Amino acid sequence: MNAILSPSILSANFARLGEDVERVLAAGADWVHFDVMDNHYVPNLSIGPLVCEALRKHGITAPIDVHLMVEPVDRIIPDFAAAGASLISFHPEASRHPHRTLGLIRSLGCQAGLVFNPGTPLSWLDHLIDQVDLVLVMSVNPGFGGQSFIPSALAKIAAVRERINASARAIRLEVDGGIKIDNIAAAARAGADTFVAGSAIFASDDYAKTIAAMRAEIVRVS
Ligand code: DX5
Ligand code: ZN
Repeated sequence: MNAILSPSILSANFARLGEDVERVLAAGADWVHFDVMDNHYVPNLSIGPLVCEALRKHGITAPIDVHLMVEPVDRIIPDFAAAGASLISFHPEASRHPHRTLGLIRSLGCQAGLVFNPGTPLSWLDHLIDQVDLVLVMSVNPGFGGQSFIPSALAKIAAVRERINASARAIRLEVDGGIKIDNIAAAARAGADTFVAGSAIFASDDYAKTIAAMRAEIVRVS
């Protein structure tokens, strides 16, 4: 699968969000990673469906990759689908019925993803992999941008890659947290094909240069 870069707008300029998202897409980003935090499932509060809708109304047409860090999950999903989300991912342990949640997302015309924290076992995939379009491996504990990459995520990415290959389904393998120019190759080598980066891109002076450097690192190991 082609590599996808999905900058996390958690580190964007919220006072000028539409322009900042336009800038990062013009700089070569593929998707917009949209982190939703509820001060309950994670100890932080971020943005919701109204902001997703506002980006669509602003003219953003790129896929919006919604990462729900909320509990409960199901109530908010139709709002994100109506607001223009393309993919919706959630943490399975935050949903009482994850199989139903995956079906709900797909019934609304979005792609569905499962997210695994550093401490969440992959056994959730045993009975759900036929229903997923994307698996997201967290390489930090969720809640904040700018944290350091947890190295054990690499073995977990490799384990997910084996499961995806065995399933023979076209499932994206995304990594999120602490991704920088100097570790993105390791994540790609382990089997990731979709890369979230927040602070590494939005704190850089030149988005295009940072994105190009990340792509070059992925190409180097592919
Ligand atoms: C963490 C979020 C991430 C975060 C990534 O809870 O899910 O998407 O914003 O930010 P960086 O790349 O700065 O770790
Ligand atoms: Zn995220």
